[in-house]
Amino acid sequence: MLGFMASEQPALQQEGVLELAVIVPVLNEVGNIRKMVDALGETLGAINWEVIFVDDGSTDGTIAEIDTLALCHRHVRAIKRYNRKGLASAVVDGAMSTAAPVVAVIDGDMQHDERHLPAMYRAIAEDRSDMVIGTRYSGGGTADGFSATRLRGSLAVTRFTNVIMRTRCSDPMSGFFAIRRDRLVEVQPRLSGIGFKIMLDILVSSRQGFRVTEQPYDFRSRQSGDSKMSAKVLIDLFVFFIDKTAGRILPTRLILFLMVGTLGVLVHLAVLRAVLGLGHAFPVAQTMAVLVAIAFNFALNNMVTYASQRLRGWAMVKGLLSFYLVCGTGALANIGVGSLMFNSHSTWWLAGIAGGATGAIWNYAASSLLTWRMK
Ligand code: GDD
Ligand code: MN
Repeated sequence: MLGFMASEQPALQQEGVLELAVIVPVLNEVGNIRKMVDALGETLGAINWEVIFVDDGSTDGTIAEIDTLALCHRHVRAIKRYNRKGLASAVVDGAMSTAAPVVAVIDGDMQHDERHLPAMYRAIAEDRSDMVIGTRYSGGGTADGFSATRLRGSLAVTRFTNVIMRTRCSDPMSGFFAIRRDRLVEVQPRLSGIGFKIMLDILVSSRQGFRVTEQPYDFRSRQSGDSKMSAKVLIDLFVFFIDKTAGRILPTRLILFLMVGTLGVLVHLAVLRAVLGLGHAFPVAQTMAVLVAIAFNFALNNMVTYASQRLRGWAMVKGLLSFYLVCGTGALANIGVGSLMFNSHSTWWLAGIAGGATGAIWNYAASSLLTWRMK
């Protein structure tokens, strides 16, 4: 029988104060769940801990595996999300669901070395640090689990990040860290929550800064399953960088839209030159260039600027048509405003810029309403 009658309900039993929550984002990690729970049990023996797996719709039996363990281990909990929203937001949702004063985050594929968790926990519990970051790139940490190409990429992004984010972290891309929960709650409203890099997001979102310690560790190879690293993850990282820099001044979407538009101008010129080179008349070449550039802008905006509302299949065809309509109207507004300025004795280039800016803003506003809101 499920549950108890009111009269036979046992009194709440105190089980000791919860000290540490380990958040494990998972997506198709069925072969790693049990290993992870066993490894945590072995290493966290002296601490009152819980593990919270945050799943984003795994299809390989991960959820059933977690449930099986959760049924008989009071340490094990799960959050099952059904709209995949990505690693960063999975970690935040997990951290927001616990009462533990210290939160640690570790990948669910056994690549991070869980045996450092007790030391990381103690640094925070004993109030020596607000945040402890696992690092592969200093103090004896290693990244042998990476292929040569991935290592080169990771190091390049690490250097780039420290320059543009003004961080001084040996491993800003690390997905292995521990933090005081109250400090996380404090920065949570300012997080971008985009993509993979939640640790960095937290690190740069604090107004008063954190006392940070680094914990070197050996990044292991994946034991089972596949990496979720993909072009999408890299695009997300790019968007994250924009959001955390220029995004403080202008809406991130607008910046992305304008960047895509600038690339569109280059595509336009390239097509114009190619078609002229084939011996076609200018009006023909210019028309081709406009059509291709708009389609290019649509495709790139659909992938990057509106990644979260990405149109697929038929919706994409309808979207493209509506984008042509929006940009056509934008061109008329552009010509109208430009001519108006020119006629009221503005310099030609000022009139040109004013027209262009009007067109761009129109395209941005109208496409956000028509193209990417259309169902
Ligand atoms: N819930 C959820 N949702 N989990 C996800 C998602 C998602 O969309 N994508 C990936 N995960 C889980 C994976 O199942 C794994 O447990 C963990 O997040 C890391 O994903 P991997 O696919 O193994 O990433 P990686 O090994 O290429 O990169 C990781 O390690 C790097 C070094 O620490 C990530 O943590 C990177 O952020 C980190 O730089
Ligand atoms: Mn991994």
